[in-house]
Amino acid sequence: MMRARADAPYLVAARGGRPSRRPVWILRQAGRYLPEYRAMRARHTFLQLCNDAEAAAEVTLQPVRRFGLDAAILFTDLLIPVPPMGIDLDFDPAPVLARTVRSRADVAALRVPDPERDLRPMLDTARHVRAALPQDVALLGFVGAPFTMACYLIEGRGSKQWDLTRRLLHAEPATFDALLDRITEALVPLVTALVRAGCDGVQVFDSWASVLSAHDYARRCAPHTERLLAAARAAGALAIDYVNGAAQHVEAMSRSCAEVLAVDWRRDLGWFRERIPSPKALQGNLDPTLLFADEATLRAAVRAICAAAGPDRHIFNLGHGILPDVDPRAVEIVVDEARRT
Ligand code: CP3
Repeated sequence: MMRARADAPYLVAARGGRPSRRPVWILRQAGRYLPEYRAMRARHTFLQLCNDAEAAAEVTLQPVRRFGLDAAILFTDLLIPVPPMGIDLDFDPAPVLARTVRSRADVAALRVPDPERDLRPMLDTARHVRAALPQDVALLGFVGAPFTMACYLIEGRGSKQWDLTRRLLHAEPATFDALLDRITEALVPLVTALVRAGCDGVQVFDSWASVLSAHDYARRCAPHTERLLAAARAAGALAIDYVNGAAQHVEAMSRSCAEVLAVDWRRDLGWFRERIPSPKALQGNLDPTLLFADEATLRAAVRAICAAAGPDRHIFNLGHGILPDVDPRAVEIVVDEARRT
């Protein structure tokens, strides 16, 4: 099986060392802000791209080539496992599920996909990308955290505060816990399969954890996330725990087995450094809207993050996904500045 070299900057920083250059990648780096992506998207739907391993590999590689990034993240979506769990899915462009999951019977009906049979395009994408990727660039796979997946399964589409999800957590605790358990059971084999297909790390995305209290997150959600992170490590890859709302969940995150904690922008990186014990590495945490600021402001913000992080155990990134109408030139500036400091 192919892998990045042990001295790849991403791997060195993630394992607690000092890399030859500060590794940089951009959350949601493949996508609509890139003209080369829009050209492919004009001819295919998002789901067609995800299900065509050669096209998905090409889209994965586009930002890595253009910006010289230190990690590639598979072009797919955290909801791609939902149809083989038994619920049809469409993107409009935001996800819309054909059914919701709100009762014990709904949970019991969810199937556990067989990754090589049911999620073959995702694994083939990983194999194609790894074969084409320079050896000093890490390949990252990803899955949704059980809580963030539950948000979509319970509500069927996006929501601001995920009220129905939080309501179920408190009103039907046994159903909620069974759902997170079932999602975890469905995703553990995928995590293992992603690593076997060549991923050097697996990032678990808890994009909507910011709506939860620290108490509910730590007791009801983090233990499920932990099983996915542990599965990545057991398969021989790095575990990366992304939590949007990291400041309020920093204690639970610090207790996780992940080597890398990926954090949003709401607190300075120095604040996280003070609270998260070595050797954990930090990934982050530029506010994505800073890419619309003037160049001097943008460069100063990147420098401040790098200064707070210091030279080791830091992977530069945004604190959440890049926005669709960003000028690609802003990404060039970010990469250039992060590598200078
Ligand atoms: O380069 C990359 O980052 C790889 C691709 C990637 C996608 N989705 C492709 C995508 C990744 C890492 C994701 C993860 C994802 N998907 C998350 C976690 C990260 C985050 O932003 O918090 C979430 C919450 C989703 C669910 C999802 N998929 C939403 C909310 C949307 C619509 C809004 C949006 O951000 O685009 C999608 C659709 C989606 N996923 C697109 C892409 C490129 C847009 C589809 C299109 O081209 O029309």
